[in-house]
Amino acid sequence: MTKEEIILANREHLFPSVFHYYREPLVISRAKDQHVWDADGNQYLDFFGGIVTVSVGHCNDYVNQKLHAQIDRLQHVSTVFATEPQAALAKKMAEITPGRKLTKSFFTNSGTEANETAILAARCYTGSTEIVALRYAYHGRSSLAMGLSAQSSWRLGPVTQAGVVHAVNAYCYRCPYGLSYPSCGVKCAQDVEEVIRTTTSGRIAGFIAEPIQGLGGFVTPPKEYFPIVHDIVKKYGGVFISDEVQTGWGRTGGKWFGIEQWGVQPDLITSAKGLANGAPIGLTVARPEIADAFKGSTISTFGGNPISTTAAKAVLDFIEDQKLLINAAEVGAYLKDKLYELQAKHQLIGEVRGMGLLLAMELVEDRETKKPAAAQTAALMEATRENRILLGKGGFYGNVLRISPPLNISKADVDEFTRQLDRSFAKIEAFAAV
Ligand SMILES: Cc1ncc(COP(=O)(O)O)c(C=O)c1O
Repeated sequence: MTKEEIILANREHLFPSVFHYYREPLVISRAKDQHVWDADGNQYLDFFGGIVTVSVGHCNDYVNQKLHAQIDRLQHVSTVFATEPQAALAKKMAEITPGRKLTKSFFTNSGTEANETAILAARCYTGSTEIVALRYAYHGRSSLAMGLSAQSSWRLGPVTQAGVVHAVNAYCYRCPYGLSYPSCGVKCAQDVEEVIRTTTSGRIAGFIAEPIQGLGGFVTPPKEYFPIVHDIVKKYGGVFISDEVQTGWGRTGGKWFGIEQWGVQPDLITSAKGLANGAPIGLTVARPEIADAFKGSTISTFGGNPISTTAAKAVLDFIEDQKLLINAAEVGAYLKDKLYELQAKHQLIGEVRGMGLLLAMELVEDRETKKPAAAQTAALMEATRENRILLGKGGFYGNVLRISPPLNISKADVDEFTRQLDRSFAKIEAFAAV
């Protein structure tokens, strides 16, 4: 198909809710390591990784070699048969989850399914139904997951989930109370208790949150936030669910999981995206007593399939062998410094935030009023496309640039990326000046 035919078929035969970045959709035809090529043969440096998913580079040689061998050996039998790839991955999970306390896994196909499973497990275990989530969260696209999510643009149709309540998030740049950290005393954390006491029966099934909010714009809480919230959740009988769909697998640098950055022991972890470098997978891993409370039989036809679980195990082994937790911390710190340099130069950049290789810049029209610069963000995205770099857009106001390159990028990649990002800012500033 030609590029035009692909774009036309997308427009005519996909649900219109399948949206694309850029004025004209970018048709990607192939990829290798940190680069992708469009249908016209142009090369781009990919610092978004298919929405925080390409952990170890596109078509990674090591992962693909394992995948090719597995495709020729065994592709599918379903969970009613036992296979080595699923068993090996589950065993690995038990070894690397925080405190080695989450030892039982259930595999599905997406982050949405992983969260559905976690909420059901929390409800089975506690016998309670009520769940506390956070504003600005994103947890997926099923009815329940949209009910957990708290951004109007991701809650399609009438969202009628009973038993889900939302506390304010720790969004220091736009503090819900208009306070400043640290003199605020992390007041936002206390809202979790306030919400439980005023909008639930007082006996909750659990609390779910992203250690750094992904679609919310890599909103990063102060270090005290999650420890305070964890204690509140325990006080009211709930389990603590860490949604690591974006923050897992070394993304935040130095640790396997984002929640470990905050020193909190979760009861369940959910993940997807970067775990298998692009092969569809969902993971719910739990303390054994929580998994055991999930009584009766359940099935996921493709869950734990040999292809995705082989990819995931290869990704984890590659991360370990190549010491990518360290690379993410070191190259991430280098990249963050470069983003601060850009902030000093370009007035549009209101805040630089994030950890490891999960970094964001929030763009504002005015640093005093913090008016979201949504139109400028859209223009900047077009300029970055012209300068052949890929990055993501997000945030509640559509004014956050999201940066999440593969964990094995180098400082030279960062130099090239930030050079092109600088040029992109300069271009839209020059346009605004005329
Ligand atoms: C934090 C988080 N949770 C859950 C999901 C849903 O994952 P999926 O799109 O694989 O269903 C996403 C997807 O972006 C996410 O970012």
